[in-house]
Amino acid sequence: MTDDDRLADPAVTSEEEPFDTSLRPRTLDDFIGQESVRQQLAIFLEAARQRQEALDHVLLAGPPGLGKTSLAIILASEMGVEITVTSGPVLERKGDLAAILTALGPGDVLFVDEIHRMNRSVEEVLYPAMEDFQLDVVLGQGPQARTLRLDLPRFTLVGATTRSGLLTTPLRDRFGVVQRLDYYGPDDLGRIIMRSADLLGVEIAPDGAVAIAVRSRGTPRIANRLLRRVRDVAQVKGLGTVDQRVAEQALEILEVDEAGLDDLDRKILTHLAVTFAGRPTGLGTLADAVGESPDTIEDVYEPFLLQQGLLARTPRGRVATARAYVHLGLEVPREVRAQGGGQEPLFDEPEPGAAWGSLP
Ligand SMILES: Nc1ncnc2c1ncn2[C@@H]1O[C@H](COP(=O)(O)OP(=O)(O)O)[C@@H](O)[C@H]1O
Ligand SMILES: [Mg+2]
Repeated sequence: MTDDDRLADPAVTSEEEPFDTSLRPRTLDDFIGQESVRQQLAIFLEAARQRQEALDHVLLAGPPGLGKTSLAIILASEMGVEITVTSGPVLERKGDLAAILTALGPGDVLFVDEIHRMNRSVEEVLYPAMEDFQLDVVLGQGPQARTLRLDLPRFTLVGATTRSGLLTTPLRDRFGVVQRLDYYGPDDLGRIIMRSADLLGVEIAPDGAVAIAVRSRGTPRIANRLLRRVRDVAQVKGLGTVDQRVAEQALEILEVDEAGLDDLDRKILTHLAVTFAGRPTGLGTLADAVGESPDTIEDVYEPFLLQQGLLARTPRGRVATARAYVHLGLEVPREVRAQGGGQEPLFDEPEPGAAWGSLP
């Protein structure tokens, strides 16, 4: 399986970029869910507008596909300013960042995606820029070199990160606003799917949206992806309006299980439970076994498996929980059972309004 057809990977694929853009909420009111983040941002926006000042620097943290880029674009449009988009790995040299900073207008938003992957020397250019709106430029080389201090307009840095733990303290401390996005509950995902279906012209019944929502791993990007794939299946098979029955039939063909787990999730759990026979396993060993990079496992797969209580991290390594054995249809070994949990059925139909909760 290639990265592109992995249904559960919340990273954006090149094929879906245009959809990502067209389905993106445009205003804070359009942005569904994440109530407390939205309320707080609305207040900061209003306050900055009243004072006619640039918005404070904002750090958005959370797993991929939850709306960080969307929120950055919304913040700029709500402030009525331009946005410049870049990312940590793209800014290789200090000069790359300096060129972007000097082109900003007053109040503009600079969005730095994956800000935890910025290299240290580039990051150091950001400190005075964020704090004092100043940029030190070194002219010439060797003994002739002089430093020139340039004033920058007051701008707003919006940083996004999937790994806030990897941010250096001096960088994190320079953000006035830090917001963490959490996985969405099925209700909000259902609303996002209904909205997207409307934009895409897909005929869908509310129970069809719920069927997709509960398999979307709490992630809007995956919800939108499943919606498009379900639409394809429904169209080709002549199934008509996407109701619960049609959605479930399509998702079965797509091999997304009732928990929203894909092939790689099941492989991870199966290796932990069977190959490594329940022994705590290091990230590198696990990554080798499933043939995926440790980063992808840690950033993309593990957070959801942890949050669902299917995988646990112990000081000695990763283990599959009793729930995982039950989910895989395996007998729960006595030692694992002794750790408790996992006896109750896993993925009940969600209560209306039930949330999947937040990451540890
Ligand atoms: N709160 C939301 N309401 C509606 N759609 C959303 C929301 N959050 C994300 N989306 C959808 O999910 C897609 C991915 O969101 P994005 O902002 O790119 O996530 P991130 O930057 O965190 O990876 C967007 O194209 C958008 O269609
Ligand atoms: Mg993004």
